[in-house]
Amino acid sequence: MNVKASVVRTLNRHVLPRWRLVLRKSDKGGDDLPLPGPFRDRLIDRTAALLDPYLREAHLGLVARPLIEEFLGVYARRPVRDNAGGTAFNGSLVLFALARALNPVLIVECGTWKGHTAWLFRQAAPAARIVTCDIEHENLEHREPGIEYRLGDWTGFGDLNAESPQSLVFFDDHVSHARRLREAHQRGFRTVILDDDVPAEAMFVTGDPPAPTAAMLSDPAIAPGTEIAWTYRGRKFHHVVTAEALSARALLAERLPAPDLAPATWQSRHNGISLVRLRG
Ligand SMILES: C[S@@+](CC[C@H](N)C(=O)[O-])C[C@H]1O[C@@H](n2cnc3c(N)ncnc32)[C@H](O)[C@@H]1O
Repeated sequence: MNVKASVVRTLNRHVLPRWRLVLRKSDKGGDDLPLPGPFRDRLIDRTAALLDPYLREAHLGLVARPLIEEFLGVYARRPVRDNAGGTAFNGSLVLFALARALNPVLIVECGTWKGHTAWLFRQAAPAARIVTCDIEHENLEHREPGIEYRLGDWTGFGDLNAESPQSLVFFDDHVSHARRLREAHQRGFRTVILDDDVPAEAMFVTGDPPAPTAAMLSDPAIAPGTEIAWTYRGRKFHHVVTAEALSARALLAERLPAPDLAPATWQSRHNGISLVRLRG
């Protein structure tokens, strides 16, 4: 093993886990694809075969194939080239398809990170007003003209309310989905996209799961007092579900977890994106 690899391995095993950090190769997923021809077509067809039933189930009247073709061009010119820590190829495709199909007038995003998903929403919904919030801007790499970049938790901005039934809020900030769904409902939003919507047995997948997730709210095995324990990078974590958090169950009208596209795209799977519709 060379010296660099050995130093990285030592840091990852013995030093960084205490801050829940890890050194990884940057995520450039999506730059390598089949060149135009029958096998690129086959990859697109197989991806469409996974996405089409989802769009139908969500009553979103769009056909996946042309969306995927357009997405490939959009994704190839993304300004944030390395979005490690944020949404990669498959998640971006799902978000692009949902935002295009929902045709929102307003998109509020919680969790700007480097600015990739806010930019992606602009590509999917050119006419929408887009506001993105983050509690810090140190990682922000790309500011797209016309998008509002706000510093702070969205609850600090009293004006971020649904402007019409066609308003959308996207949570990708690792804050409890139960809490975020309640806040969204209070602000008049009825259409929500969630990232990291992992079930109880997959808490270990993401550094800081937004527990209880919507997947947990929809899970009959979860009750007040349920304790979930997992490890993440060698450290133990646990979460106890409270009755107060579970009361957000009453708000859920429909939860539609997006399909895993990895078997068709051969890109890394997304961490659980769901479309949630809230009760009126
Ligand atoms: C996973 S990243 C977001 C990735 C981004 N949406 C993307 O895919 O390009 C999570 C972000 O949430 C932010 N965050 C954490 N707590 C927050 C809060 N209470 N309100 C808003 N953003 C928060 C973090 O600072 C971080 O930038």
